[in-house]
Amino acid sequence: MSLYITTPIYYVNAQPHLGHAYTTIVADTFSRFRKLCKEDVRFQTGTDEHGDKVAEAAQAAGIAPKEYADRISAMFREAWPPLSIKPDTFIRTTDEDHIRTVQEILQKVYDQGDIYLGSYSGLYCRGCERFLTDKELVEGKCPDHQTTPTPISESNYFFRMSKYQDWLIDHIKRNPSFITPERYRNEVLSFLSEPLEDLCISRPKSRLTWGISLPFDDDFVTYVWFDALINYLTGIGYPDSDEFRRYWDAAAHIIAKDILKPHAIYWPTMLKSIGLPPYKHLHVHGYWNINEAKMSKSIGNVVRPETLRQDYGVDTVRYFLMREMSFGLDASFSDESIIARQNSDLANDLGNLFSRSLTMINKFTDGLIPAPAGLSREDKELAEAAVNMVNEYTDQMNSFAFNRALQAVWAVISLANKYIVTTEPWVLAKDKTKADRLNTVLYNLAETLRLITLVLSPVMPETGLKMALALGNTEAEFNNQNLIDHCAWGLTASGMKIKLGDSLFPRLEKKSKTGSKDSKGKKKEKGSPEDKKNADNAANLVSFDDFKKLDLRVAEIKAAEKIKKSERLLKLTVTAPEERTLVAGIAEYYQPEELVGRQVIMVANLKPVKLMGVTSHGMVLAARDEQGRLTLTSPGEEISPGSKVS
Ligand code: MSP
Repeated sequence: MSLYITTPIYYVNAQPHLGHAYTTIVADTFSRFRKLCKEDVRFQTGTDEHGDKVAEAAQAAGIAPKEYADRISAMFREAWPPLSIKPDTFIRTTDEDHIRTVQEILQKVYDQGDIYLGSYSGLYCRGCERFLTDKELVEGKCPDHQTTPTPISESNYFFRMSKYQDWLIDHIKRNPSFITPERYRNEVLSFLSEPLEDLCISRPKSRLTWGISLPFDDDFVTYVWFDALINYLTGIGYPDSDEFRRYWDAAAHIIAKDILKPHAIYWPTMLKSIGLPPYKHLHVHGYWNINEAKMSKSIGNVVRPETLRQDYGVDTVRYFLMREMSFGLDASFSDESIIARQNSDLANDLGNLFSRSLTMINKFTDGLIPAPAGLSREDKELAEAAVNMVNEYTDQMNSFAFNRALQAVWAVISLANKYIVTTEPWVLAKDKTKADRLNTVLYNLAETLRLITLVLSPVMPETGLKMALALGNTEAEFNNQNLIDHCAWGLTASGMKIKLGDSLFPRLEKKSKTGSKDSKGKKKEKGSPEDKKNADNAANLVSFDDFKKLDLRVAEIKAAEKIKKSERLLKLTVTAPEERTLVAGIAEYYQPEELVGRQVIMVANLKPVKLMGVTSHGMVLAARDEQGRLTLTSPGEEISPGSKVS
């Protein structure tokens, strides 16, 4: 089977923001998912570069429209790879082949009598780039742009859209999956219950020159929507390329609700007029708001994808967007909500399952995935749940219910975390007669993680690769995995060598994270009293003699446990080489069992101090970054416990 998945082509009058990133991440994830189902996928995005809006923005910037379009189009093209978005084609409406295709199509529609010259008076909204009907206005204004539309009266060319109204209604009714979710299908049908007007498809050059000239009248340029929609055909080489034959029947467009009408009404009728079947699916999503408010330049709350990536990392951004929005409905973005997802879903649930399982395989079976023995009831339950998860995930992904697909994965992550608690591998490891049971448990964890890696990789490609490598696969094996041949239970080969690495996701502190902010969220000013204090501190240097007073040693953790009633503290029993107890404020970042066997650096000559009833004889060193991520320091390679650090 083939799939041709597209995003809208974005106007070059604004730089990429969270909304554009969302649609494009959905398209990328879906494309990766269907490739994982061994399908032949083509994924297209691009930029829409003609029309009033772009001409105005170029004028405001004091440069020619093409130069302006080149600049912003490049920003879109460059915005995608850092977000792990890999389109197969990036189309621009100023591309030569697109201009040629638009003119060929216009001529074809004109020749068969579906375009006529008429006169038009109406209210034109520059923001929407279209005439609005009285019904659409709210208190005389465009509801989307809050501007009063301009009355315009002029001669123009019209496309006989009304001629295809009955055919379109019939097509939508016969094909329930033509426009989804259903609410948008209903919206379109309700709009079509009133008589459809013909579509004005030209602009006189006396008013606008930045567009594609009509092939049959050089005094006019093409209306930007008639030009833009055709990108979906140009990109696959309409009318006679192999790609066109291969992909047009499998076309699926992803858009947000703002551009439903052009895609659900103009586009299928245009296609009908040129004798092509309509696209297969139109998938319509809702809007991202920011802290419940509409994202807008004037409010100053526009969120840039690059800022998010730098703050949270690409996979956290991708996961958050796919998990948080229910496709079709609006959703709200906030730093708090993405931090909450990172801490609970990624660092806690997935990250802990991963690091606990790998640490135990490393420690108890020398880093080799063991061979399983007979399965108990709880093993079967885990295996069954993991295999069902793949089916459930596949169904939900196919119906664009990405949040539900991810919920299904997290149900298994949580079951596997419980499985660790009930099977207690660290207890089994102490009893030689329980080796078979321990092997089975560790194998089951590795196998569950393999299936989790498989289904998560379309959403989080970097994390997927990291997990696959840690589980002992090569990058080529990761790239060759698929949902058809690799979804059964028991495919992990025992004897594979795992590779322990860094934790997958750090925990983040719950604070507002946009820019460098103080505790009240205000941007810090240069030259402030705080900066002065920092400068004074920098001058507060330590002498080498003072530094020499510290006795830094390598310590090996033998046991770790939570300290009752404390959320932060862990009690560590270490050898250096003599045994001693340390108390460390790291419980929010590490599970006790993943610490056992690790070497860390400690300050060995601190005065003992009693914390929550436990006396600490030293301090473990850890690094913490500005985002509140924490990692324990350790020697580069294993060395005898007690070695001096100097
Ligand atoms: N150029 C037209 C589309 C032509 S397609 C043949 C256009 N461009 S746009 O730059 O305005 O992009 C609109 C699209 O950007 C939306 O349909 C959606 O995909 C995305 N989004 C813009 N703002 C958004 C949100 N606030 N939330 C979610 N998606 C949003 O219209």
